[in-house]
Amino acid sequence: MKAKSKLAQSYNKEMTIKTTKTKLAGEIFVPGDKSVSHRALMFAVFSQGKSRVTGLSPAQDCQSTMDCLRQLGLDFSLETTGNTGSTHAQPVTIIHSPGLSGLKSSDKLMDAGNSGTTIRLLSGICAGLPFESRFDGDESLRKRPMARVLQPLAEMGAKFRYEKEEGKPPFIIAGGNLQGRDFVLKVASAQVETALLLAGLQASGRTSVQLPHIARDHTQRMFQYLGLPFERDAQGKTTVARLTASIAPYELTVPGDISSAAFFMVAASCLEGSNILLKNVGFNPGRTLIFDVLKEMQADVSLENVREQCGEPVADIRVKGVKRLKGATISGEKIASGVDEIPILALAGSLCDGQLKVTDASELRHKESDRLALIAQNIGAIGGLIQEFDDGFIITGQEQLKGGGHWQTKLDHRLAMSGLVAQALCKSPPEIEEIASAGISYPQFKRDFDILVT
Ligand code: S3P
Repeated sequence: MKAKSKLAQSYNKEMTIKTTKTKLAGEIFVPGDKSVSHRALMFAVFSQGKSRVTGLSPAQDCQSTMDCLRQLGLDFSLETTGNTGSTHAQPVTIIHSPGLSGLKSSDKLMDAGNSGTTIRLLSGICAGLPFESRFDGDESLRKRPMARVLQPLAEMGAKFRYEKEEGKPPFIIAGGNLQGRDFVLKVASAQVETALLLAGLQASGRTSVQLPHIARDHTQRMFQYLGLPFERDAQGKTTVARLTASIAPYELTVPGDISSAAFFMVAASCLEGSNILLKNVGFNPGRTLIFDVLKEMQADVSLENVREQCGEPVADIRVKGVKRLKGATISGEKIASGVDEIPILALAGSLCDGQLKVTDASELRHKESDRLALIAQNIGAIGGLIQEFDDGFIITGQEQLKGGGHWQTKLDHRLAMSGLVAQALCKSPPEIEEIASAGISYPQFKRDFDILVT
């Protein structure tokens, strides 16, 4: 035990954000959006030839998608423009795709690593392919529910079997001969919706998916941009039919990731005197919770230079620090528009003048970790006042967080990055279990945070 804590202490030096109780200033480009990047890579299976994607996310999750797509016969090469050391480096990824009919069966396992989006969306693609595909992931992914995708795919005619635990990876899908179906989903999951639509593009008849309410609609926006035919009604139901011809290879630019920007938005809001500009951030209507809640908490957040890029709304986000945020309530339909941002919002809540109440958020228990449990544990560890419930929590804000304590991550990237922000906000920085997992979505997070700290 003693040796372990010594090791943790020595790691903690490099794992500590430059300084505590300071402010953030300057401007950065956050890396490319992870959700858009996964789709930009995967949708190339419906084209034949060379597509070019600029600003692809450097996330390890997107590398997992590329690794799996390689098993199916796609190939990738990289060009980089701009200064590779700066936040504005714009990688250009060339995707070489053999087209849907050229995809091959791989005798190798498709390892989705930590990525729920990779395993679920690719399950939708592989459900339509006339061969067996084997999927697995890391320890965290092996705990995540897959029946929500595989069950409806089976209703379309795909066959699958779990290799170890019922409902969890690893599993095998035997695809082909799909029939279109109409699905009304209980969970507003863009991942499940997308998987079914990707299968629907390979099924006979029509496939429709209705979510209970709005979630991120990157899939539909990219379908529109790439010329993949679909219909969407006023209730948000999306319908596709079998694709009869390949789409043309494409050029696409990925906007910055609002889920990555969220960490700086909260840090700058809580540090009075801060003034930062987060450039070129995707502002999909299904992902605006972080902005809307901070506004409700009376943060000084605003959008500049709002525009559209490859079908996605994009803006520069200006954030200025205020003396103290107010309380807010996040519940019901709003959760889906910021499901990944609740851990960092919990920190904002811990310092607010009032309470942050979160309900209807039981989905957070099925993410890369049980995020509700970890939020409660970590906020408690740094001296915050939190009550955990089955589907959420209530935090009573304080003027100051004493800090110290041990910040657990369970290798969940969003918890690791929240821990680094906690270090900047607490009187005494907590010790973070590890920060390497930040690479799952944002490998250069600490560098970029240090750029903004003045
Ligand atoms: C994602 C959808 C969300 C989100 C995940 C990425 C996507 O999951 O949590 O990080 O790219 O579609 P659910 O749709 O399952 O809530």
